[in-house]
Amino acid sequence: MAMAEEEEKEVLRLPANARRSGGGTATQLDSSTLHLLKRRDDLNISLESFLALFSLCFIQHMLPAMHACCTEMMSKWEELVSEKGGSCELDVSPHLQNLAANVIARTAFGSSYEEGRRIFELQMQLASLVFRLSQSMSFPGRRFLPTKINKRIKAINNEVQILVRGVIDEREKAMKLGGAGDEDLLSVLLKANLREINEHANKNAGMSIDDVIKECKLMYFVGQETTAQLLVWAMIMLSLHPNWQTRAREEVQQVFGNNKPEYNGINHLKIVTMILNEILRLYPPAIMMYRVNHKETMLGDMVIPCGTNIMVPILFVHHDRDLWGEDSEEFNPERFSEGVAKATNKQASFLPFGWGPRICIGNNFAMLEAKMALVMILQHFSFELSPSYIHTPSFRVTLQPQNGAHIILHKI
Ligand code: HEM
Repeated sequence: MAMAEEEEKEVLRLPANARRSGGGTATQLDSSTLHLLKRRDDLNISLESFLALFSLCFIQHMLPAMHACCTEMMSKWEELVSEKGGSCELDVSPHLQNLAANVIARTAFGSSYEEGRRIFELQMQLASLVFRLSQSMSFPGRRFLPTKINKRIKAINNEVQILVRGVIDEREKAMKLGGAGDEDLLSVLLKANLREINEHANKNAGMSIDDVIKECKLMYFVGQETTAQLLVWAMIMLSLHPNWQTRAREEVQQVFGNNKPEYNGINHLKIVTMILNEILRLYPPAIMMYRVNHKETMLGDMVIPCGTNIMVPILFVHHDRDLWGEDSEEFNPERFSEGVAKATNKQASFLPFGWGPRICIGNNFAMLEAKMALVMILQHFSFELSPSYIHTPSFRVTLQPQNGAHIILHKI
């Protein structure tokens, strides 16, 4: 359904009567995997508790884990480059996916890092199988047929369920013995949940263990693939626009030199932020946002009946000439030089993390991780596109370069 700017804003504001609906591939990821489709208020946990998980204060504690993961990737790249005498060609896509997976495994599951990694691998296999399914003919009841793919999906779901359950059980035991600190998202989520239950003195308060499992699985899925793709496009665009790569590196040198990036410095990066915003505009990892209207609603002079599926095409909004001007298709981070509000003229035209009451709760986490990674890459390497790179953005759960991101790295 196409709609005017004011009406689009209205849709995004719909808090009371709108749920996030599933779209295509996403819904088929099995109801338990894509908990994204559930309302936060369905979770029986207050929004405050949920958001506390991602408060800036809490996220700061994640910085050492993010730094450790980036250092690991830098060491691997340095090794590859030195083996080839100072420069080497690499498809950076799997490396950046691995980085984002490591970050989420360490920050979400901390001490249970190994289990976290296995869960991630399984979730990726699942996404790929579901994507394959989405490309074939669909008919009612298809997912119940005992086909090879369906059996594999079921087996993966079971294994993930058992692994996550095991991690949660261990953590709950540690909490009872007073041994689990606030060092990772899982501990904070379980503690917030326990507080809810105690405060309401009601066994129906708080999230069920199944909900906690779903949240963990969701965290993996949405937290990894999206941030990885932001970094992949960042390396591609900075290769295509070496002047912006130089400007970003100059800023990084000015703020950090060759030192370890710290929180305050990261927050003061202006050029790097402008670049990331422009990449999120041109290549938003999530290209579509969904809502279902749960009660008849007036939108401008339109009546939206109950049960209507509404899609907000993030990608098209971000490329719209009327909203962004004649150069809407061009990479021009300068448009964000005075911040997002100025660039958008306060319209709801920049939606990489969604908008309104259902906005992505991991946005600060993702930006911190992306900045940390980009700063370290710029400190260690200059890079350019390989002649074998073909520019083919395509949608596969997220927006990604279909043939990978082949880049030549040079050690600085
Ligand atoms: C560049 C990275 C990311 C992008 C582009 C992105 C984008 C989005 C979008 C478009 C939505 C839907 C918002 C809406 O419907 O209004 C969403 C929801 C969500 N995101 Fe992200 N996301 C990113 C990273 C993350 C990370 C790192 C996490 C967690 C660690 C995360 C957790 C979530 C959760 C839990 C939801 C559902 C919130 C709810 O149920 O209300 N995201 N994200």
